Amino acid sequence: MGRVLFITSFKGGVGKTTVSANLSALLARMGHKVLAVDGDMGMRCMDMALGDESGCVYSVADVLAGVCPPERAVVESGSVKGLYFMASPAQKPEIMPDREKFLSLFRKLREEYDYVVIDSSAEETPYYLSFAACADDAVVVCMHQSISVRAAEKTGLRLQEMGFRSVRLAVNCYRASLARAGELPTVAQMIDGSAIRLIGVIPRDDNVVIDQERGLTAFGAGRRRVSAYEAALYNIACRVTGENIPLLYNVDPPKNKKRYPRVNA
Ligand SMILES: Nc1ncnc2c1ncn2[C@@H]1O[C@H](COP(=O)(O)OP(=O)(O)O)[C@@H](O)[C@H]1O
Ligand SMILES: [Mg+2]
Repeated sequence: MGRVLFITSFKGGVGKTTVSANLSALLARMGHKVLAVDGDMGMRCMDMALGDESGCVYSVADVLAGVCPPERAVVESGSVKGLYFMASPAQKPEIMPDREKFLSLFRKLREEYDYVVIDSSAEETPYYLSFAACADDAVVVCMHQSISVRAAEKTGLRLQEMGFRSVRLAVNCYRASLARAGELPTVAQMIDGSAIRLIGVIPRDDNVVIDQERGLTAFGAGRRRVSAYEAALYNIACRVTGENIPLLYNVDPPKNKKRYPRVNA
C-alpha cells in the first residue's frame, strides 16, 4: 500500500513545486514507483518541473470529473524510470468534484504506486482541502527567512486541525553562512518558530533554477559531483522511506565532499 505525501505551505514561491518534483524523482531513482500529482489547480507547472511538458493531454481534474480513467491522465517520465505524473488542468475547473471522488481516486493510486506526492497550492481552496484529506503525511516547505516561518507555523496548525498526524518541516534555500552570522534565523529558531519537526534542510543553489529551466530534476544533469542540494534532497527522500539519517547531516557546507551519499542516477 502506497503512501501519499502532501507538499505544502500557505506561502507561494517557497519551493513546494521544486521539492515535489525533485523528491518524486529521487524516490523513483531509489527504485520506488512514484506518482507526482500537480494539486495546484489552474496553475499547471509540475509537467515543466519534470521536463515532460508535451506528454499531458488529460489532467487530474478530468479524472475527478469522470472524463477519463486515472491511467489515461498518467504520463510516464521520459527521463526518470519509475516516475509518473498527473498534471493539473491549465484552468481551474468550474465544478468542484465531491470529496468522495478524491478519496476513491487516491485509494486506487495507493494500490498502484509506492509513493504519491501531491504538490499543493498556496491557498486553502476546496481543492486544497480535498487533496489534503487524501494524504497520509505532510511536508511544510519553508524558505530561510522569518516571514516564511510564520506562514509555516500557520500551515502546520491548520494541518493539525485537518487531522494530519505526521507534519514535517523542510527548510529550503538555506544559507548557512548568513545563519551563522546572525543575519538569518538558525535551523533551531525555524523549528521553534514553526513548531514543526524537521525533515531536512535544503541549501540554496542557483543551479536549481537553471536545471528547472532545462526540465532536469536532481541527479539528472549528470554532474560528476553530487551537489549539496542533491545530497540534502536525497537525505530527505531516505527519511521519507523510514531510513534513520541524522537530521542535521551535511547542513553546514562540508569541507570534504566525499561525505555526500551517492545514488545511481
Ligand atoms: N533550493 C533552492 N535554491 C535555489 N532556488 C530554488 C530552490 N528551491 C526553489 N527554488 C526556486 O524558487 C522559485 C520558487 O519555487 P517553486 O517550487 O515554484 O515554489 P512554490 O511551488 O512554493 O510556489 C523557483 O524559481 C525555483 O526554481
Ligand atoms: Mg508551486
